[in-house]
Amino acid sequence: HEEFTKVKNIATIELGRYEIETWYFSPFPPEYNDCLKLYFCEFCLNFMKRKEQLQRHMRKCDLKHPPGDEIYRSGTLSMFEVDGKKNKVYGQNLCYLAKLFLDHKTLYYDVDLFLFYVLCECDDRGCHMVGYFSKLSVLWLMMQEKHSEESYNLACILTLPPYQRKGYGKFLIAFSYELSKKEGKVGTPERPLSDLGLLSYRGYWTRVLLDILKKHKGNISIKFVSDITIPLAAMHLFNQLLELSDMTAIKAEDILTTLQSLELIQYRKGQHVICADPKVLDRHLKAAGRGGLEVDVSKLIWTPYK
Ligand code: COA
Ligand code: NA
Repeated sequence: HEEFTKVKNIATIELGRYEIETWYFSPFPPEYNDCLKLYFCEFCLNFMKRKEQLQRHMRKCDLKHPPGDEIYRSGTLSMFEVDGKKNKVYGQNLCYLAKLFLDHKTLYYDVDLFLFYVLCECDDRGCHMVGYFSKLSVLWLMMQEKHSEESYNLACILTLPPYQRKGYGKFLIAFSYELSKKEGKVGTPERPLSDLGLLSYRGYWTRVLLDILKKHKGNISIKFVSDITIPLAAMHLFNQLLELSDMTAIKAEDILTTLQSLELIQYRKGQHVICADPKVLDRHLKAAGRGGLEVDVSKLIWTPYK
């Protein structure tokens, strides 16, 4: 892919009250080739070459939040679901903006296929975008007959730089799993993940899983799977992974790699087991960083496409 090797074109952007330095190249239309700085409308995400254009635009633009359904509100935080099919220009603008901070992700400009979950901090001037994640639309998956119990629940994730390291990333990740739970599915993010993406996921998975293990003192109730042949020594572990996956909507493979990387899967008395020593769990929990902003599920008003 040619675009990944291209040098950074836009150096800074203005968005709301922030001037933000960009990280990577983004394939804006050729007429923007000669600009170092772009001015974004923080609500419709249209971008302009000059400050005066933006000021003129702001007098006309009547959006005060992303163009979609508000599906979550708790305190000053809101989440909007934007359908790329109904809001093509917004979806495209969001992809151009996001690519400035994403290195290796193939960005899909076929925004029709995606839903965008946009997180905002709201005040009396409007809802200011903090970050977002995108997800392939279930309707599209159904058309492709790829509708299954297990699927990608996140394509791209971004927290805008001024808002990073405040727990919004983990909020977005948690939100993607809450949607999966409502769909009755197990989910996983699309690969590859960036270094920061992987760090955030590892932190989220560790916290969620170890909190459960601590509460249950390692005794996850066993749902016996009898119609699969697996070595007896792995049977107990296998069932525990499925049980954890059921509780969290995290894909069993992601649970396994997380626990393995923490060296919590051990072989004892002829069985593979999950170590549940509270001291060990606490040490890992501490290392996993802060919990991030909580998703209050009772504030999520959303029904999955069925
Ligand atoms: N240095 C070290 N660790 C970092 C880090 C950094 N700059 N940024 C995030 N992390 C790790 C930390 O473990 C952090 O937890 P902590 O702050 O409690 O220690 C954890 O990731 C998540 O932090 P959080 O504040 O919840 O995430 P965020 O709002 O900063 O967003 C991303 C995380 C990945 C969304 C954000 O870095 C981003 O948008 N990056 C650019 C786009 C990208 O790479 N997306 C993923 C690929 S699709
Ligand atoms: Na954080």
